[in-house]
Amino acid sequence: MLFKTERLLLREFSPDDFEGVHEYASDHENVKHMAFGPNTPEDTRRYLEVQCREEREAIPRMHYNIAVEEALLHKVIGGISIHLNWRRDDGILGVIINRRYAGMGYSTEALRGVIDHAFCDLDLHRVHAVVDVCNPAMIHVFEKLGLRCEGRMIKRGKSRPGADEPYFDQFGFAVLREEWEARK
Ligand SMILES: CC(C)(COP(=O)(O)OP(=O)(O)OC[C@H]1O[C@@H](n2cnc3c(N)ncnc32)[C@H](O)[C@@H]1OP(=O)(O)O)[C@@H](O)C(=O)NCCC(=O)NCCS
Repeated sequence: MLFKTERLLLREFSPDDFEGVHEYASDHENVKHMAFGPNTPEDTRRYLEVQCREEREAIPRMHYNIAVEEALLHKVIGGISIHLNWRRDDGILGVIINRRYAGMGYSTEALRGVIDHAFCDLDLHRVHAVVDVCNPAMIHVFEKLGLRCEGRMIKRGKSRPGADEPYFDQFGFAVLREEWEARK
């Protein structure tokens, strides 16, 4: 386990997390802003295999995919990723929470813990995220956490097949370690 927050365990994924992960990763609505899914059972099994072996054993480690477990339910209700740049001082965040548990403050709580972890334990200098301009819940969470909107990137995101437009705009959000520490 990496660490706990008030209601959550933030830890490495395990093959036993299949049910919890597949519940959100196979849900079309839940993954519409993500680069993956909706997952088949085989996709989810493969994802967990990669998390549990290849990425964890890579040296140096460049990718962290963190399971968000609701401590009372003993169930994985989401995941947060941090992918490091080549200097290992800047990380890009990704987040998904099972929509059955949306609006309960889980992503805010989990991201607060993960950003703390990124600065205190991974020793990053900056974390950032890119968000579809049409994802108001995610934008609100990043603003609530104090990440700074650094601008709108035109047609940076690639739409899923069948969408009206092939590309979509994204906002960039970021926070520096000194800014994060000043807000505590
Ligand atoms: C975006 C997401 C991570 C939010 O997770 P969550 O656990 O529901 O987030 P929280 O409960 O911590 O906070 C959600 C906030 O957004 C607000 N919100 C929800 N829908 C909103 C909307 N349409 N417009 C504005 N704010 C909205 C909520 O009111 C809440 O704010 P509050 O606490 O001030 O009331 C989750 O919905 C999700 O996983 N979505 C699918 C995957 C995704 O889009 N990932 C982002 C890829 S960059």
